[in-house]
Amino acid sequence: MTRSSIQDWLDWTYEKLDASDIYFGHGTANAWDEAVYLICGCFNLSFNATAKDLRKTASNIQVKKLKELVRLRISKKIPVAYLLNEAWFAGLAFYVDERVMIPRSSIAELIEQEFQPWVRRSQVQRILDIGTGSGCIAIACAKKFKYAQVDATDISLDALAVAKINVTKHRLNSRVHLFHNDLFPAKTDKKYDIIVSNPPYVSKIEFANLPMEYYHEPESAFLGFGKGGLDLVTKILTHAKNYLTPNGILVVEVGNSEKALLEKFPDLPFIWPDFTEGEGGIFILTAKDLHAIKQKR
Ligand SMILES: C[S@@+](CC[C@H](N)C(=O)[O-])C[C@H]1O[C@@H](n2cnc3c(N)ncnc32)[C@H](O)[C@@H]1O
Repeated sequence: MTRSSIQDWLDWTYEKLDASDIYFGHGTANAWDEAVYLICGCFNLSFNATAKDLRKTASNIQVKKLKELVRLRISKKIPVAYLLNEAWFAGLAFYVDERVMIPRSSIAELIEQEFQPWVRRSQVQRILDIGTGSGCIAIACAKKFKYAQVDATDISLDALAVAKINVTKHRLNSRVHLFHNDLFPAKTDKKYDIIVSNPPYVSKIEFANLPMEYYHEPESAFLGFGKGGLDLVTKILTHAKNYLTPNGILVVEVGNSEKALLEKFPDLPFIWPDFTEGEGGIFILTAKDLHAIKQKR
């Protein structure tokens, strides 16, 4: 069969991906969504492309590019976001490459709901994002809370370079400030209304058993160290109260380490919000709850 229209190449891409052994989990959940993602990227189409757009003839250059990306996706298991240098989070586009984790945290849902009902919208003046990676959480927060200042830290200079690209892309240089720090900003007496973090929390055993796609992402974005991968989460839990306003909240993703966390801190009144998509594993604690922590070793 001779393929000529973009629709033909969409069908071809879907068939190739569907017949392969690739893993979905970096922004898409199935072969069809992933084919659409690739086609829109290769043919410069929006996700709202119409049937008329898809009837257009695909140029030889575009088809060559598509074939190469499909080859890399299947043979090298490179996630589409890296192939296209673009990922989506909270409805916003972010530049990504292998220096940062591909944005996909369910924290996006909480941001889109402006962390309701846990904070008073009008009182949110300062937000801190710990382990910002691409900057997706910090930037999405700044877009929602239009009058807030957002600080974002990362220990990786590579990640901060990518975050800088995104802060500039979203024209937020005056409100999103990037810091090269170990978890919290150094030497600050600033207090935050929201501290949010998707830190590394994956245990060594869990990391060793991930699908190939994950090994294109920086290892330092995953490995949390310590029992259950909880060392960094524990540090955040222990110190966050010093950086929160009296009505502030801490929001942290811990994924599958939720059980280990509950064993370590059985007395803390964690709130575990429900999500429409994703698996959750994100807790909220108030500043008041954090002051009650008795450190367990
Ligand atoms: C799971 S990724 C999250 C990236 C981004 N926030 C997101 O949700 O896509 C964790 C990030 O934390 C950073 N990180 C690891 N250890 C850190 C530390 N001690 N202090 C600050 N950032 C750290 C990593 O470099 C990585 O960018």
